[in-house]
Amino acid sequence: MTKHIAGSNPPVLIRGVRLYGEGDALDVLVADGQIAEIGSALKAPEDAEVIEAAGQILLPGFVDLHTHLREPGREYAEDIETGSAAAALGGYTAVFAMANTDPVADSAVVTDHVWNRGQQVGLVDVHPVGAVTVGLKGKQLTEMGLMADGVGQVRMFSDDGLCVDDPLVMRRALEYATGLGVLIAQHAEEPRLTVGAVAHEGPNAAKLGLAGWPRSAEESIVARDAILARDAGARVHICHASTAGTVELLKWAKAQGISITAEVTPHHLLLDDGRLASYDGRNRVNPPLRESSDAVALRQALADGVIDCVATDHAPHAEHEKCCEFSVARPGMLGLQTALSVVAETMVRPGLLTWRGVAKGDERGARRHRRSARSGPAAGGGEPANLTVIDPDATWTVEGDGLASRSDNTPFESMTLPATVTATLLRGKITALDGKSGPR
Ligand code: DOR
Ligand code: ZN
Repeated sequence: MTKHIAGSNPPVLIRGVRLYGEGDALDVLVADGQIAEIGSALKAPEDAEVIEAAGQILLPGFVDLHTHLREPGREYAEDIETGSAAAALGGYTAVFAMANTDPVADSAVVTDHVWNRGQQVGLVDVHPVGAVTVGLKGKQLTEMGLMADGVGQVRMFSDDGLCVDDPLVMRRALEYATGLGVLIAQHAEEPRLTVGAVAHEGPNAAKLGLAGWPRSAEESIVARDAILARDAGARVHICHASTAGTVELLKWAKAQGISITAEVTPHHLLLDDGRLASYDGRNRVNPPLRESSDAVALRQALADGVIDCVATDHAPHAEHEKCCEFSVARPGMLGLQTALSVVAETMVRPGLLTWRGVAKGDERGARRHRRSARSGPAAGGGEPANLTVIDPDATWTVEGDGLASRSDNTPFESMTLPATVTATLLRGKITALDGKSGPR
């Protein structure tokens, strides 16, 4: 018999679900923010909300290491409330919100706001990412310690959107971060190789007359930063790895014992630069969609653990910023509500990953940030009940208009994809159920 503490959320009984998609269907009782009991034919407490989940799978709540929520400054494209709703509907219980806001998240005033606002909304823990350099200008390091000590407890720093390209600044950032026990996440792009670039440098961009972004712009920074991390004894994380060459460099660096991790986006797993022919601004993204051989290498690297995790790089942009000439469209794609389905399509269906493997990748990514992920991602006794229920057999057709984000710039428009999120629980509270988000 579970006693329910007055004032907390009502218990939730998830019926007939398979943990990680393995073994027999079980019932899972969540009470007081934790998993209270797992068993067969559990009796629902009187005040419990019952989720009928026969044929469905229970996973630890997803954690997204790379999200742009646009608050403060560009709330017309997204804000913490709309972005949190998209996250909950996508199965996330925590997201890391990138620092390229306006003003930039380069001080505790901004990073504390992001954390506090996320808690107020209450759908997902929004962990602020702090900028590495003041104003993202790449020159002067920020007061990382003050952001780390603030309410937002920043543990990840990134100038994402821009590269920390000056090697001396990057070296100092890695040294400083190591002292503080925080992580630097690098947007790997050598800017002198991408002046004017809007698309992957290759036959497609050449045919279409689009200025090319070479793979070497990414790979040269990945190689440099691996070496800088080695010499500083630091950890470094590579954002949105997009090339087969980056995969080779990660293999090399990991084999040397360098503390390097990397993420891949759903769009780089599924799409390639064959889509550019439409000149549709929705296909513009940094780094650009590469060739199908790169996508194949990225999938294999994720399966092998060379790439540690999937991160969405959810990047909302308003209609007027996307529906325009390709070369002036802002780079970025929505990702929070489609990530699970793209991973199901590219990794689970072809047998590259099991659902446990998907959860493990997510956990691997999140573990690096556990100190700031105040809500641990694991489903289990004593841990907060951050849970996602998915229906692996359902399919759905993506419509940008129907997504919770304020923007609708999904590159997956009209695609029919497998797997849906049926419920998300944050510390035992239902934050999304049957396609509707909200505190319940
Ligand atoms: O395509 C992108 N959009 N890549 C980035 O690195 C930044 C992001 C954004 O902020 O829109
Ligand atoms: Zn980036």
